[in-house]
Amino acid sequence: VGGPATGPAADRPSPETTAARAELVAEVTALVGSAREARWIVEDAESRGGDRGSFPEEVVVVARALATRRATGEPLQYVLGRWPFRELELAVDRRVLIPRPETEQLVELALAELTRIDAGSPGGTRLCVDLGTGSGAIALSLATEGARIAPQLEVWATDRSPEALRVARTNLSALTDSGAKPAKVHLELGRWFGALPASLAGAVDLVTSNPPYVSDEEFEALDASVREWEPPEALRAAPGADGTPGLADIEEIVTNAPEWLRANGALVLEFAPHQADAAASAARRAGLGDVSTPRDLAGRARFLVARRS
Ligand SMILES: C[S@@+](CC[C@H](N)C(=O)[O-])C[C@H]1O[C@@H](n2cnc3c(N)ncnc32)[C@H](O)[C@@H]1O
Repeated sequence: VGGPATGPAADRPSPETTAARAELVAEVTALVGSAREARWIVEDAESRGGDRGSFPEEVVVVARALATRRATGEPLQYVLGRWPFRELELAVDRRVLIPRPETEQLVELALAELTRIDAGSPGGTRLCVDLGTGSGAIALSLATEGARIAPQLEVWATDRSPEALRVARTNLSALTDSGAKPAKVHLELGRWFGALPASLAGAVDLVTSNPPYVSDEEFEALDASVREWEPPEALRAAPGADGTPGLADIEEIVTNAPEWLRANGALVLEFAPHQADAAASAARRAGLGDVSTPRDLAGRARFLVARRS
């Protein structure tokens, strides 16, 4: 039964545009082997090169180029150049690890610690440190979501890779430009805690990190899309002192954390499930208390939460 149009006719694609789009999605699906990825690629090409009322050749050219990259095994996240993480849309490329869903859970645990800490002494300045920040996924989430818990929050994000810090800076600028009003974020180059000013020693409320924790042996068994595309220095770690594969960086962070945390402060780390006992033991050896190893959504111990008494 007819009726008035629901919007300006110019906003709706013409039948020709709809048909051209469907044809392109089918072509890209054949190239990349996934209809869902093909839709994302075509949407991305449209956002780069199209205008709503028409379907210019430029969109076809861009979509084919993106699909060709994907077809060679490049991860979809790098092909699109951005990926969602909690409330953020992060720029990602080969200079940084692709943020994983488990790490979104790490942020949840860190925010719970920040809530606990802030409740213990409300209203003060809160200092968070994210070691090995990569794209800035954890640090920028804390700066955005944590600022709602503790308005006087400052976040220090560090990485050994100058390239990764450039990506983090791009993401920080985009966040600031979006009007999100994140907490103050400092980006510092250097090795773990060594990147921080000495004045922060004993003053940090919360340390987070998703450090490299993949042993050389495990690395060789990883999917080619990870092994050949993501930065190996973001993934690989030497064995721990007790021989636990991939534990060296976790151990180093855990051992040094008490020097930087203030009383009642917390350390929240991500690790591989087989490292849970060794990571918890390292935390107890370092003098941290309330040590727990929360599980990920698949039920595997994945995180270390430990506090300085
Ligand atoms: C597993 S990635 C995590 C990236 C990001 N935090 C995330 O969760 O998506 C580890 C990061 O630690 C950095 N890194 C590795 N060794 C480091 C070290 N010794 N000191 C500081 N950063 C390091 C890498 O460059 C990489 O960005």
